[in-house]
Amino acid sequence: MERTFDITSVREDFPILGRKVYGRPLVYLDSAATAQKPRRVIDAMVALVEGSNANVHRGTHLMADESTSMYEAARETVRGFIGAAEREEIIFTPGATASLNLASRSLCELLVGEGDNVIVGKMEHHSNIVPWQLACLGEIRPLPFTEEGLYDPKALEALIDERTRVVAVTQCSNVLGTRSNMARIAEIAHRYGVVVVVDGCQGVVHGTTNVRELDCDIYAFSGHKLYGPTGIGVLYGKRELLERMPPVLGGGNMIATVSFTGSKWTELPYKFEPGTPNFVGAVGMAEAIKYIGEFEPGDIERHEAGLLDAATRRLGEIGGLHIHGTAPGKAPIISFTVEGVHGYDLGVLLDKQGVAVRTGTHCAQPLVDHYGSGSMCRASFAMYNTVEEVDALVAGVVKAVSMLRK
Ligand SMILES: Cc1ncc(COP(=O)(O)O)c(C=O)c1O
Repeated sequence: MERTFDITSVREDFPILGRKVYGRPLVYLDSAATAQKPRRVIDAMVALVEGSNANVHRGTHLMADESTSMYEAARETVRGFIGAAEREEIIFTPGATASLNLASRSLCELLVGEGDNVIVGKMEHHSNIVPWQLACLGEIRPLPFTEEGLYDPKALEALIDERTRVVAVTQCSNVLGTRSNMARIAEIAHRYGVVVVVDGCQGVVHGTTNVRELDCDIYAFSGHKLYGPTGIGVLYGKRELLERMPPVLGGGNMIATVSFTGSKWTELPYKFEPGTPNFVGAVGMAEAIKYIGEFEPGDIERHEAGLLDAATRRLGEIGGLHIHGTAPGKAPIISFTVEGVHGYDLGVLLDKQGVAVRTGTHCAQPLVDHYGSGSMCRASFAMYNTVEEVDALVAGVVKAVSMLRK
């Protein structure tokens, strides 16, 4: 039976929310950096470590069987969660950054030579820019975005050509909260036979994701932003593409045979999972997915949208405060600057009032540079935040600004 969304009982699921900072209740508005974990995620990992800890896919003993079964069940949970067709299309990685490095290195080796190009969005997190710079022998073409924070399909049409091999974009901006028109981007790219790589780090957290509906070829995300643990993430790929992609990391478990005259890779998904995987993290991430799946579809998003609306309206009333990224349908992430105030100073003074936000360039320097601001302040909301916390943010900003402008 689905669980009714009740904010008081949701908050009780997250042990950390009871803590105080500087003697005040914690107001945690930095979930886009990493989300807090419900008790059941922590418990699931402790139970595995205390009860069945053994390396996966190697042992002949009972505990090895148990941990392997839990690891593979986690893969199935992830598969269902993102609507992938087959479990072989789900590769566990240490996180989105690792997934995007793997994808870029493998795809560039497979597809990109001199004279070819890769289109990379200008709003991207550094994790979806720098790996392409490291791996790509061809040209990297930055895809511009509009003032309201969207990739314009017309700009993509203008950049793409018969030598384009990959388009790499985010599903949802970690700075602006704006959501890309993925269907349109994939349609244009596929018309040219171009591989579409999607950074799903924020998109997967806020709203339902179905990789087949997105029609992306590669999709990457991290467990820790999804109420799961750190050190675990996912690389989804369409089977046909993954079959052709070469592995980029070698070691145990990813081989069929090894000899000094040449080794052969094993089948998917293990071809891309060398070494001992983070099976404890995978089980924790699967537990987080089951946790959010308990609620009626749409309830979490409605709650978060209410917080975003309230924050947008109330922050917008503060003189000299500018909210960046105004496209409709945003995820609950709001970045702003205040005239005459440095983002870092604002963040420090908010912290002293118990409000945790993030400031700086948010690992998306080209985006922040575009808005001409050295440092933005970002409040990001999650399922456990409240309207009272929006009030605390607004009051904190008003107070900090009055102190800093003196
Ligand atoms: C949109 C986006 N992409 C990639 C990343 C990198 O994720 P991780 O640090 O978990 O590898 C982040 C993290 O902030 C992000 O928000």
